[in-house]
Amino acid sequence: FSLLLPRVLSEESHCVSEKADCPAPHKMSTTERTFIAVKPDGVHRALVGEIMARFEKRGYKLVALKMVHATEDHLKVHYQDLKDKPFFAGLVTYMASGPIVAMVWEGLDAVKTGRVMLGATNPLASNPGTIRGDYCIQTGRNICHGSDSVESANREIAHWFKSDELVNWTSAAQPWIYE
Ligand code: RTP
Ligand code: MG
Repeated sequence: FSLLLPRVLSEESHCVSEKADCPAPHKMSTTERTFIAVKPDGVHRALVGEIMARFEKRGYKLVALKMVHATEDHLKVHYQDLKDKPFFAGLVTYMASGPIVAMVWEGLDAVKTGRVMLGATNPLASNPGTIRGDYCIQTGRNICHGSDSVESANREIAHWFKSDELVNWTSAAQPWIYE
């Protein structure tokens, strides 16, 4: 019978998802990092503060932040996995068209949860309550980027930031966010 109980009720698990891919908390790292960026449309539309506030209020810790007008060469490396896609050239032009706010956010399940907070790639398929679901309409103007795996996050963080731009600090709120 206990097998039928939702995982959320079991003592050793605080995972709210019953999905098999929700890892056991003791195997998860509170120092997982993800690369989040506000794309040029998000900057022009004055959504930088709103997007940052989502991560800040959720409890994620900001460890790096800068505004950059990235070159096309830099963006071609950032999106290297998409180089054969028909939209690649347009994507690079769009991303190089104005400033980007580049960030590293740290915390439990930061990569996957960051993607959930962003919403689906196509904003029309993004749930209300997600950043894309609340603030944009078209895939080609979807205002924000988030790493899609821990491996991508590590590559992207190293691509956008020098190691001395990543700030090591402990938030005073840490014990109020993690038990
Ligand atoms: P991102 O990397 O920017 O966080 O977006 P994503 O993982 O949700 O989606 P991805 O497949 O990595 O695509 C990167 C960005 O390319 C643009 N895109 N345009 N026209 C199209 O069909 C199309 N598909 C993707 C979007 O700006 C997408 O976020
Ligand atoms: Mg992507």
